[in-house]
Amino acid sequence: MTDPSAAPGPRDPALLGQTLVVIGGSAGIGLATARHARAEGATVILTGRDPERLRSAAAEVEALTASAFDADDPAPLRRFFEDLPGPIDHVLVTAGHPSYGHLLDMDAEQARQAISGHITLALEVARHVAGRVRPGGTLLLLGGTGARRVRAGLGTAPAVTAALPALTAGLALELAPVRVNLIAAGFVDTPLSARLLGGELDARREELRTTLPIGRVVVPADVAALAVHIMINTALTGATYDIDGGQQFVG
Ligand SMILES: NC(=O)c1ccc[n+]([C@@H]2O[C@H](COP(=O)([O-])OP(=O)(O)OC[C@H]3O[C@@H](n4cnc5c(N)ncnc54)[C@H](OP(=O)(O)O)[C@@H]3O)[C@@H](O)[C@H]2O)c1
Repeated sequence: MTDPSAAPGPRDPALLGQTLVVIGGSAGIGLATARHARAEGATVILTGRDPERLRSAAAEVEALTASAFDADDPAPLRRFFEDLPGPIDHVLVTAGHPSYGHLLDMDAEQARQAISGHITLALEVARHVAGRVRPGGTLLLLGGTGARRVRAGLGTAPAVTAALPALTAGLALELAPVRVNLIAAGFVDTPLSARLLGGELDARREELRTTLPIGRVVVPADVAALAVHIMINTALTGATYDIDGGQQFVG
């Protein structure tokens, strides 16, 4: 009989033998998730636009392959999936960014691009996931909690934020038995946040440290841990997982 007081023994890496594709894996949340998945035994395949940044990220996580292209462009996205060496288990989409501003200042093309950045990209990737991701695997999308409360100046972000959970649930029904889930993040300390905030970054970090219920800023590794859990836990589909340190209740 096992001694109940004995320390747990070493466990097998949870993603051993599985392959993760990260669309937008050379920085931020995507790279952190590739690192975490690699540490759990996964093989990782990365994409991004900047070839140099992608090369360095791919070397760090010993990526099987790394492909530089703009995921918003349907033709190279399709070629990328067609050229994959075999079936895959998980796809994480982190490409895309929020479009802030005033709605009535946006022309039709800007509005189309803002929506395309998250919704159309998710749909395009979902099309390629069908038949390529093994049953029980995941398509994992990234959204946010910051634009749930509508305020002037947030542009299309509140509309996209509201649409993503419904899109995720719909895709979960259509792609089953592949699972589809959405991570809704608040502020995460990534190169994207640094770009958006510029010189105000340090002040924002300090503000969050003092106002968030968790008393610290959310970092990419926090989101990566959630992403890997969703890959491992085969009960999860069609759902939205908030990770914002409580920001939506105090921001
Ligand atoms: N950071 C936050 O506070 C936060 C909060 C809520 C939601 N999110 C969402 O989480 C996702 C990831 O954010 P992040 O902060 O990790 O961003 P990040 O630091 O800018 O990293 C994004 C990654 O995706 C790649 N990428 C971006 N656009 C791409 C495209 N069109 N085609 C291919 N690769 C692309 C980037 O490389 P290249 O630039 O070289 O292509 C990079 O590897 C985004 O969708 C963002 O909207 C972020």
